[in-house]
Amino acid sequence: MTYTFPKDFLWGGATAANQFEGAYNVDGKGLSVQDVTPRGGVPAKAGDHNPLITDEPTPDNLKLEGIDFYNRYKEDIALFAEMGFKVFRMSIAWSRIFPNGDETEPNEAGLAFYDKVFDELAKYGIEPLVTLSHYETPLYLARHYNGWANRDLIRFYENYVRTVFTRYKDKVKYWLTFNEVNSVLHAPFMSGGIATPYEDLSKQDLYQAVHHELVASALATKIGHEINPDFKIGCMVLAMPAYGMTSNPLDQLAAREFENQNYLFSDIHVRGKYPNYIKRYFRDNGIEIQFADGDEEMLKNTVDFISFSYYMSVAQAHNPEDYAVGKGNIMGGISNPYLESSEWGWQIDPVGLRLVLNDFYDRYQLPLFIVENGLGAKDVLVDGPDGPTVEDDYRIDYLQKHLVQVGEALQDGVELMGYTTWGPIDLVSASTAELSKRYGFIYVDRNDDGTGTLARYKKKSFNWYKEVIATDGASLYK
Ligand code: BG6
Repeated sequence: MTYTFPKDFLWGGATAANQFEGAYNVDGKGLSVQDVTPRGGVPAKAGDHNPLITDEPTPDNLKLEGIDFYNRYKEDIALFAEMGFKVFRMSIAWSRIFPNGDETEPNEAGLAFYDKVFDELAKYGIEPLVTLSHYETPLYLARHYNGWANRDLIRFYENYVRTVFTRYKDKVKYWLTFNEVNSVLHAPFMSGGIATPYEDLSKQDLYQAVHHELVASALATKIGHEINPDFKIGCMVLAMPAYGMTSNPLDQLAAREFENQNYLFSDIHVRGKYPNYIKRYFRDNGIEIQFADGDEEMLKNTVDFISFSYYMSVAQAHNPEDYAVGKGNIMGGISNPYLESSEWGWQIDPVGLRLVLNDFYDRYQLPLFIVENGLGAKDVLVDGPDGPTVEDDYRIDYLQKHLVQVGEALQDGVELMGYTTWGPIDLVSASTAELSKRYGFIYVDRNDDGTGTLARYKKKSFNWYKEVIATDGASLYK
């Protein structure tokens, strides 16, 4: 059965500054936590290998040069426009605007760069969707304040978001406060700039850091709406549905408890207060969140929409030690025998996306936005009739199956603003810092050893996605 997506559906792609801009030390930019990431990535729970052993940019770090979007943004945006993008998700590198993070005055050259990018997008009628903080806390804030573990980060973030909201108030309408805000529990350095090694962080420290981010997110939402009441400001969570491994009620309970650790974040962003289940968890674990005066009121500044990334689901059991552990997933979980996995062990589950959409919508009755989805895979460049290309049928297959499930959810009645695939142009992986884990419709000639010309080539999926957009999704059913 064919289904046509709504005419105003926002089709596009998603990126993050630290994974594709490059130019890490140009025009006054300061270092971010990503600039000290060694090639091969930082173990999510950076403990025995805390990257803050050095203050220097690691020389073999592919993120330093990225794919040079900083200098090639015109060429890249033209390619996005050729695919018919209606929206482009990108982040602002905080350390381009405030190099250390705690200055009072912004860096004009950094602000000017994003003006140029937004103007270029506007030329093609592409809406920017801007993440304010995407795994790129200024390194100075990690070093000198211990990142979001410190309440001072709220006022530095406030100054930063006030600056960019004011500067771009007529150029950007859609904003996300923190990328995958729930990941700070699992990757505190990458996600929250928290320098303390994971094994030395107590649950108390982690949830207090979470509280700081949640208050900052609510504050950003408040400020944004004051600066421009037309702004649409959303939270962004890493969505990962969990199945009970068996119909044993204890397995179902394990799945529910796992999901609650993620719902916590969207619940607070949407309902404006801590849910009861987490109060119990805090009691059971001796956690006491320190609320400052005004925090409770501040959390009531709730979001306009809920956005999320979706790559995979997990299974949970009350006795996980009896099963094989899922690979490549920062949130843990066990392998689901009904699902296949990507080369990096991420379990592929299109139906899980329909479930997530329905669960979120039933729970909140607010518009949703899928702002990341895609397949990281090794591509092989071959000669095609129009030059080098990649026959990436595996990627088309992954996206097609997920989008069909998105169509099902729309027919279920879910309100969905749009869909942006992760990495529409190849970029550096967040978790492994490789380039060979590619997601793009556009191939970038850069290799894991840093060699390559940075030339761009269209993959087979480029024309496939172009047709999906041009037909409002109808071509998915061919
Ligand atoms: C999400 C992040 O977790 O997954 C992105 O928001 C990241 O930054 C994406 O790139 C894919 O993960 P990876 O590790 O394959 O780059």
